[in-house]
Amino acid sequence: MSSSHSTRPRPAWLFPEYAPAGIDLGSKAAVAAYDRNQGTDPAADDALLDRLKVGEGSRLVDLACGTGSLVVQAARRGAQAHGVDVSEEMLAFARARAESFGVAPQWHRAGFLDYDHRTEPADVLTTKSALHQLPDFFKQQALLNAAGMLRPGGTFYLWDVVFSFEPVTADTQVQRWIDTAGRPEGEGFTRADFEAHVREEFSTYTWIMEGMLDRAGFDIVSRATPRLTHAAFHCLRR
Ligand SMILES: C[S@@+](CC[C@H](N)C(=O)[O-])C[C@H]1O[C@@H](n2cnc3c(N)ncnc32)[C@H](O)[C@@H]1O
Repeated sequence: MSSSHSTRPRPAWLFPEYAPAGIDLGSKAAVAAYDRNQGTDPAADDALLDRLKVGEGSRLVDLACGTGSLVVQAARRGAQAHGVDVSEEMLAFARARAESFGVAPQWHRAGFLDYDHRTEPADVLTTKSALHQLPDFFKQQALLNAAGMLRPGGTFYLWDVVFSFEPVTADTQVQRWIDTAGRPEGEGFTRADFEAHVREEFSTYTWIMEGMLDRAGFDIVSRATPRLTHAAFHCLRR
């Protein structure tokens, strides 16, 4: 694993991205529980890779790759795949997953804000369920950094908890999400996990995200909001 973070001095005002808020991912057991709760599904990863036209020789970077299933599936189809994450424990799990499939993607311990992609620009850049770890000002910085690692015309796919309800309905909508999504302890993410997400992490609205994507140099070619609490953006770098 290379630590491909920028060697530029870190300004004192930079967000502390190596100590993310939210569920504890700081041990092997916590990471294995996360992987179960997240419902990691190689078939879903393959469907996404098909949509994004990732194949033999494609250059893919997955930012905040977590337990690495998307990166491993990309490597299995012959892509030059890179997984980037701030968590040593997540990367250890991801590396073991790759070894079990006999593939060797490149893993980088780095963050949205300081990952320095030191090789050819990517064709496809993805990030799922993670950008909400940064407050909006830093999301914008992260998106600018992301655009810089992608070739012009390259694809950027973003999936996250992003709200598309009207702000005046936020109380009801957030409560409804927590009430319906929370599972009993041991069976998935709990109500407490979702409550902590809203309280301590930085999910934002779709209209704010769309403005940030545009300002980072992305054209949104399609968007999906399958739930009022989640959104996918499929973009091209200008
Ligand atoms: C909820 S998990 C999502 C993992 C994976 N993308 C998935 O879809 O399963 C969030 C991941 O973001 C990582 N993370 C948090 N803040 C980060 C940052 N600033 N830069 C890179 N990774 C970060 C965490 O270590 C964790 O692996």
